[in-house]
Amino acid sequence: AHRVVVLVSGAGSNLAALLAAHDDAAYGARVVAVVSDRPGAGALALARAARVPTAVVAPADFADRPGWDRGLAEAVAVFRPELVVSAGFMRILGPTFLDRFPARVLNTHPALLPSFPGAHGVRDALAHGVAVTGATLHLVDAGVDTGPIIAQVAVAIEADDDEASLHERIKVAERAMLVDWVGRIARGTLTIEGRRAVVG
Ligand code: GAR
Repeated sequence: AHRVVVLVSGAGSNLAALLAAHDDAAYGARVVAVVSDRPGAGALALARAARVPTAVVAPADFADRPGWDRGLAEAVAVFRPELVVSAGFMRILGPTFLDRFPARVLNTHPALLPSFPGAHGVRDALAHGVAVTGATLHLVDAGVDTGPIIAQVAVAIEADDDEASLHERIKVAERAMLVDWVGRIARGTLTIEGRRAVVG
C-alpha cells in the first residue's frame, strides 16, 4: 500500500476517517505515521489508539523557522512516505520540507479555494456572507493554500449557522472527500498539468 504520513495540529477528525479506511487492503493507502507540531493535539491520541507511530516536532524546540522546517522534513522522511497529507496542520510548510517531497504533499482546507485561504476559512466565508462554501483538497506549493486543486466539495450555508455548526458540516463532507481522493491517488497517479492536479 501507498505509505501516507499525516500532519496534524488539532482534533484529528480527518485523520480518524483515514484510519477507518486504511485497514482495507483494497483501499491502497496506509497511514504509517502521524506527525504534529503540538504535543497536546487530540489527533496524536487517535493515532496511538490505532497503533500508528507518532512524532512531535514543535517550533519551540528549534532556533528558527528554517530549523523547524528541516526538523519536520527529517521526522517525516524517516517514515518514507509516498504521500504526505496535511489534515488540520495549522502551520505553513517551508521550502526544505516541500523540496524533500516534491508534488507529494496534500492539504485539506475548509473553504472553496481560492476563496478564503488561511487559518480562518470557515469564519471568513461566514463573514463575507457567501451562500455556498465547502472544502478543497489541493497540492501544497510555496504559497498559502495556493497549490493545484485536486478536488472540492460544496456545502450550503444555513441561515442559523455559526462558525462551529458550519465547520462541523464542512468536516463531514471534507473527510469523505479526503478519504476518497487519497485512495484514488494511492491506486493511481497524480500529475500536475498547468494549474490542475490530475488523478488518473
Ligand atoms: C479541518 O477542517 C481542516 O480543513 C482545517 O482544520 C480542520 C481540522 O480538523 N484546516 C485548516 O483550517 C488549515 N488552514 P481535524 O483536526 O478534526 O481533522
